[in-house]
Amino acid sequence: MIQACIPKFGNPDVFRIEEVPDPMPGKREVRIAVRASGVNFADILARKGLYPDAPKPLPIVVGYEVSGVVDAIGEGISDDLLGKEVIALTRFRGNATKVCVTEAAIFPKSKNMGFEQAAAVPVNYLTAWQLMVVMGGLSIDETVLIHNAGGGVGLAAIQIGKKIGATLIGTASAAKHERLHAMGLHHAVDYRDANWPQVVRNLTNGKGVELILDPVGGSYWKKNYQLLRPTGRLGMFGVSEVTASRLPGILRFIPLVLKAPLWSPFSLLENRGVFGVNMGHLWGEQAKVAVWGYDLMKGAEDGWLVPHVDRTFPLEDIAEAHQYIEDRKNFGKVVLTCT
Ligand SMILES: NC(=O)c1ccc[n+]([C@@H]2O[C@H](COP(=O)([O-])OP(=O)(O)OC[C@H]3O[C@@H](n4cnc5c(N)ncnc54)[C@H](OP(=O)(O)O)[C@@H]3O)[C@@H](O)[C@H]2O)c1
Repeated sequence: MIQACIPKFGNPDVFRIEEVPDPMPGKREVRIAVRASGVNFADILARKGLYPDAPKPLPIVVGYEVSGVVDAIGEGISDDLLGKEVIALTRFRGNATKVCVTEAAIFPKSKNMGFEQAAAVPVNYLTAWQLMVVMGGLSIDETVLIHNAGGGVGLAAIQIGKKIGATLIGTASAAKHERLHAMGLHHAVDYRDANWPQVVRNLTNGKGVELILDPVGGSYWKKNYQLLRPTGRLGMFGVSEVTASRLPGILRFIPLVLKAPLWSPFSLLENRGVFGVNMGHLWGEQAKVAVWGYDLMKGAEDGWLVPHVDRTFPLEDIAEAHQYIEDRKNFGKVVLTCT
């Protein structure tokens, strides 16, 4: 099989495309002949050496999600799965033409989507679902602020928010606003305007919002918290601000630590809540996550869940795919394809 290996941390050109023996599925595992794999921001951070959950040691193969066909099964797996079209969360190694995963990590692929669209579902939609439905409890009469609305998680959040019927405000660079409105976002705000918290406040008649999805962290934590109206919840799921620092390696986290708010039980008693989401730390809860996955696949069958693939690149061109995301050119998901 072919895999995209990261032999050392650095720019996208560090990728090495290599041919290695096919992996064999272990007990209660299936092997997937990968047709497409999703690229996530976590992969970019891993390549730069900034992702604490990345596999260790180097060289590593990352990739959190794939779609494809089951082509081999391990002990304890029914023959019925052979040849089935599936979607899977992969605890890395998804940037390859074959990958083995546990049976619990696969979902049947909806017939309503192709392999490329299917590879855009697991991480983005499960994350947005956990933030908005499972932990965020968003309801029809509420307003949600979606940061990075033009990213993969952001677009998934817009579709889920639309399905719920809530009012949707999103931040994104100005070039993405028109397309975000067309997808159903009610109000787009340019986060490059330092005054964005006031713009959001004005949009809500000074009241603030009930739910915020925050993948940025750092300077955003306090600003977001202050934008919560009573009963508001802040869902944090990333620290992309870490990429802005010029400090080397793990030291880049120092400015974020210094900006971290000190929430006390007294401030939370003001009818506000904060919570964090990390899909990468839910491997011990696969049965729970599977239920969310089935709810989402039902959304695809019902027609409200339509993954937006911005661009595909052949697996061999993974360096170009990473560069494309780092240049902020993507609107939604970037997917790698295998022939
Ligand atoms: N905790 C979890 O389980 C979990 C799961 C999935 C994702 N995440 C996090 O959520 C965030 C978004 O993920 P995603 O998959 O939606 O990302 P994505 O599809 O790669 O999109 C990222 C978007 O964010 C904006 N952006 C902000 N800072 C950026 C930076 N430093 N470099 C490049 N783009 C930047 C860009 O839009 P503009 O043009 O508008 O700037 C870009 O289009 C990431 O921080 C990721 O680590 C966390």
